[in-house]
Amino acid sequence: MVDKGSRVGVLMGGLSTERDISMKSGKAVSKALKARGWDVVDIEVGRDLPAKLVDTGVKAVWVALHGRFGEDGCVQGLLEVMGIPYTGCGVRASAVAMDKIATKRAVAPFSEVRLARDSVVTAVGEAPFLPAVVKPAVGGSTIGISIARTAAEYRTALETALALDAYVLVEEYVQGEEITVAVLEGEALPVVRIVPKSGFFDFEAKYTQGMTDYEVPGNIAPAAAESAQRAAVAAYKALGCGGLCRADFIVPSDGSAPVFLEINTIPGMTATSLSPMAAGATGIGFEELVERILLHAHCMSPEVG
Ligand SMILES: Nc1ncnc2c1ncn2[C@@H]1O[C@H](COP(=O)(O)OP(=O)(O)O)[C@@H](O)[C@H]1O
Ligand SMILES: [Mg+2]
Repeated sequence: MVDKGSRVGVLMGGLSTERDISMKSGKAVSKALKARGWDVVDIEVGRDLPAKLVDTGVKAVWVALHGRFGEDGCVQGLLEVMGIPYTGCGVRASAVAMDKIATKRAVAPFSEVRLARDSVVTAVGEAPFLPAVVKPAVGGSTIGISIARTAAEYRTALETALALDAYVLVEEYVQGEEITVAVLEGEALPVVRIVPKSGFFDFEAKYTQGMTDYEVPGNIAPAAAESAQRAAVAAYKALGCGGLCRADFIVPSDGSAPVFLEINTIPGMTATSLSPMAAGATGIGFEELVERILLHAHCMSPEVG
């Protein structure tokens, strides 16, 4: 357990394409912990992370990294080896959740979770179906993801995705409304409805102020909201997640059950990010949320003496 006298490191930045977003999350987390009276060190993550962890003498870390190396189990593995408790998911859940194909296979046995039809592709060829959403297995922030409506669009989409990953998930395009459900320590928070003004929740819509409207609790049918909350918790448990995670869904326009897309193990953590917004709707303020996540920091007990 982490006690309040302990020095805490906030890991931010990192080596992924989501570095800038992580810097924003990290600064916000650090500010919140300082406001709560913690002894905090901001740690900008590079290849020299092990030395920085030793030099700063931190007794626990709040991992505010997004994407590869920070959200995929790599940093979590390093912290396990060094015996430093850390926030969020362990190595295995992080690694599985980072891969959209592995995630869908892991949650598929759970009847609460409805999945879009898909196909895994490793080379350029004919589209298995259209319209399709083409995604690199590993990624985030909609980077490398395209919607393909024609054979020509499919070919371009596949080339884009294959440039980023050897495994590409080709998923049936689901027409509907987009929602996201944060799960905090195994309990679902209220549903957030996402309304991108452009129609596609891409990088620009995600990170440009005013390009997307957010609603919490989202104005969707109560049955759809409950179903998505159950599915988000089932996915969290299927992967063995910890801390705060956030699952994305599409609520189909035909009134059928929400379709699960993916689960993010280190969702954005600025005061205006989606999960803090959802926590806020239940009365949990940003600083309280950040501190609560820290108090659940953990690592495995050593197995060898
Ligand atoms: N099967 C799908 N049908 C319709 N839209 C989709 C589908 N999959 C993804 N999208 C759109 O692409 C966005 C990003 O996809 P997602 O799987 O959440 O990846 P990430 O957020 O990691 O980039 C979603 O927020 C949604 O707008
Ligand atoms: Mg997403």
